[in-house]
Amino acid sequence: MFKKNSKNDFSYLNEKDIYLDGACQSLRPLPVIETLETYYKEHNSCGERVKYKWGRITDEKVNATREKVLNYLKLKKKDYFVSFTLNTTYGLNLILSQFDAKKAKIKYIVTSEVEHNSPFLSTISFARKNGVKRKVIARNSDGSVNLEDIPKNSLVVLNSASNIDGRVLKNIKEVIKKVHENSGYIVIDAAQTMAHSSYILEKCDADAICFSAHKMYAPSLGGIIMKKSFEPLIETSFIGGGMVDDVELDSYLLSKDNPEHLYTKFEAGLQAWGEIIALGSAIDWLEKIPKAAKKTLQENEQKVFDFFEKYGSVGEVDKTIEERRLHKGKLHLLNYEPSSTMSFYVDGLDSHLLGEALAEEGIMTRTGYFCVHYYLDHKMHFPPLVRLSFGYQNTPEQIDKLLEALKKVL
Ligand SMILES: Cc1ncc(COP(=O)(O)O)c(C=O)c1O
Repeated sequence: MFKKNSKNDFSYLNEKDIYLDGACQSLRPLPVIETLETYYKEHNSCGERVKYKWGRITDEKVNATREKVLNYLKLKKKDYFVSFTLNTTYGLNLILSQFDAKKAKIKYIVTSEVEHNSPFLSTISFARKNGVKRKVIARNSDGSVNLEDIPKNSLVVLNSASNIDGRVLKNIKEVIKKVHENSGYIVIDAAQTMAHSSYILEKCDADAICFSAHKMYAPSLGGIIMKKSFEPLIETSFIGGGMVDDVELDSYLLSKDNPEHLYTKFEAGLQAWGEIIALGSAIDWLEKIPKAAKKTLQENEQKVFDFFEKYGSVGEVDKTIEERRLHKGKLHLLNYEPSSTMSFYVDGLDSHLLGEALAEEGIMTRTGYFCVHYYLDHKMHFPPLVRLSFGYQNTPEQIDKLLEALKKVL
């Protein structure tokens, strides 16, 4: 299990491998990998259907994971249910493509300008399909949105943390309250939130939350956490085996109509049982992260932020090209604050080439626009960026190596 030094659960890594791409997918700690292996070796079976012992073990562990997801965010089982799917993108699309805008009396679909393509595109598609207006609102430098920007009768889709700079939706509780007071609904894109900033979602009253287990130290998997009272607004048209209790020639009986099986609503076909169970193990692991490991992560983030502050400019995410030109140094960090996700560019240096140069040193980063094309490219005209996303696998020595490499580049 998790030892004093977080490194131990990543002991399979080569010392020279400096993985800074956790915002795409986290490395998986050994206990999570072992849980997946145990499923394959000891009870490789289909959930929900089989009567032999292996199936019972699988069912128990899958059900336990549903509860762990809710407990992780301090959400109550009487109010919410958890379904599993492929990833955040899939979850958002399942919700938006089946949402009954007329029944919900929705007049607007609202998202923000600093969103991943996942909510950005699915809200465009929703507006086209349902003939409702789409409003793209601004994001403040502290990550909040202005409540007055959200019209009445809106379906709102916002991230609770950005994949550019990790900024959280600071006023999430106020936003949710206001949306509800104005006869609207809110779906949260929690892809970047579950690993390192899940506190922001605790006891929140969102109608739905979509997340990717692979960004929270768990295997590749998606999750939808949904309020039971919101579910009737989602038509059930994406459908198949695992969702029905009985089928006649032209009709069927949905399993989700049994309140105990509401989660089957989004689970068409055979599920990734092993991955679901291993998500439970990742949550156990995240809940037991020692204070020292959390401190190391924070210190690593701070050290990198201080470096950019010393040799360049910080807080560039909402600065215009002209403002950015006035800033000192060649290094431009988009973050206002240290975070486990930091993006930057160097004047006159192609980020993709820089990414390749860092890779030569064993440093694995991401380059480009990270699926935030509208805001980064078309609105703000940033050049392609380099993204550093830190995790519990990173040691202070690795961060020193990163900073040395960056100094060399400068
Ligand atoms: C904020 C945000 N939303 C949505 C997604 C989409 O996640 P997935 O590709 O797992 O569906 C990502 C992925 O990077 C993300 O960072």
